[in-house]
Amino acid sequence: MMLSVTNLQAAYGASRVLFDINLDVTEGECVTLLGRNGMGKTTTIRCIMGLLVANGGAISFAGCAINGRAPERIARLGIGLVPEGRQIFPTLTVHENLVATAANRMVRPNSWTEERVCSLFPRLGERRNQWANTLSGGEQQMLAIGRALMTNPRLLILDEATEGLAPVIRAEIWQCLEALRREGQSILVVDKNINVLRRLADRHVVIEKGMTVWRGTNADLDRDWDKVHGWLGV
Ligand SMILES: Nc1ncnc2c1ncn2[C@@H]1O[C@H](COP(=O)(O)OP(=O)(O)O)[C@@H](O)[C@H]1O
Ligand SMILES: [Mg+2]
Repeated sequence: MMLSVTNLQAAYGASRVLFDINLDVTEGECVTLLGRNGMGKTTTIRCIMGLLVANGGAISFAGCAINGRAPERIARLGIGLVPEGRQIFPTLTVHENLVATAANRMVRPNSWTEERVCSLFPRLGERRNQWANTLSGGEQQMLAIGRALMTNPRLLILDEATEGLAPVIRAEIWQCLEALRREGQSILVVDKNINVLRRLADRHVVIEKGMTVWRGTNADLDRDWDKVHGWLGV
């Protein structure tokens, strides 16, 4: 098991948000985290990254219990986050954004370089010396993904990476996720486009009001389609 979240509970001050989140990702798997707005997807990711300290339950990554560890230590274990809202460095260039986070912690043979990111997203190569805040929304999202890949993560987490983007750009980002998955990259993805994700992912986790209410494979999803659609409100 690469990532394992068990009975996770969390709160913002006195306001409890997560009650019983259960999910896991094994090596090379692409898993979706689904649920309507406000159900706790981003909060779950914040707990995994150590940005919010859980009140209960367990989170382990690559065999280490990571509850309560500092975010930079968790990132260093090999989790790369593409956060909700992108959060790239606006006044750095594309090149500077990419090299700012570069790390080859696992000393992987086929590690990510700026060249490799630019071959995945050719638009970034064309805009290498442009300030990030002059890029389109889609290009900024590609940069956020590229920046996370430059850390050579064992697990890539994407939080609403296609939110607010034009359909053609969304398709480009999904294609890139597909390519990463074929290469064996482990991915946890939060996205609302279940119809696309069911083709892309191996397994799915549905959360409702801070609780995991359904987990399953694509075959399970076909069987429980109406039930899952009910939870997603689509
Ligand atoms: N910083 C915060 N302080 C207090 N409540 C928050 C904060 N961030 C999120 N929440 C609340 O936590 C719940 C879950 O939010 P979130 O994890 O962002 O949901 P999702 O990502 O599934 O849309 C929501 O009710 C939201 O209003
Ligand atoms: Mg969210």
